Amino acid sequence: MNLETSYAAFGVKPPVTKPIPEFLLEVGEEGLRELISKHYDAIKQSDIYLLFPQDDAEFAQAKVNSADFFIQICGGPAHFNTNRGAPRMIGRHAPFAIDAKARERWLELYKPLLEELNEQGVTETSLYSFWNYLDIFSIWMINTK
Ligand code: HEM
Repeated sequence: MNLETSYAAFGVKPPVTKPIPEFLLEVGEEGLRELISKHYDAIKQSDIYLLFPQDDAEFAQAKVNSADFFIQICGGPAHFNTNRGAPRMIGRHAPFAIDAKARERWLELYKPLLEELNEQGVTETSLYSFWNYLDIFSIWMINTK
């Protein structure tokens, strides 16, 4: 697969397309929770970890909240709205200084995990659709030059 990272111009929010429903149908809710969990585990080993909760219990809860959101945005049950309220993603990320470099690192950490899903039989069409969502929406989270 050729997962490319788009250039992020500061303050520009390109239109976002949600992942196609086939992605969640192929990966499953538990599979998606596992993906998010592995991404957070990779964050823990990376130079962007300092942006994230340092307390183990809070970090574990962050995985749950994120997975709730991703399941919802991928067409599954509205777990995030039920447990956390309106998504307000830009506002929720505002307390953390996210620059273009941090967004690139965050995205990069997804690459091997999506390759792994491809090897396990998830179609490239579904994975590209999920990647495109991550690639573009992550630009929206950049709030620091
Ligand atoms: C597609 C792009 C992204 C999505 C959909 C997303 C989603 C989320 C969600 C759902 C939460 C939990 C919010 C809550 O429950 O209050 C969260 C928290 C957080 N995100 Fe993101 N995020 C994205 C990009 C990024 C990027 C690029 C960074 C930094 C490099 C980042 C850093 C954080 C941090 C520091 C938190 C707070 C800790 C936590 O609760 O996990 N996020 N994100």
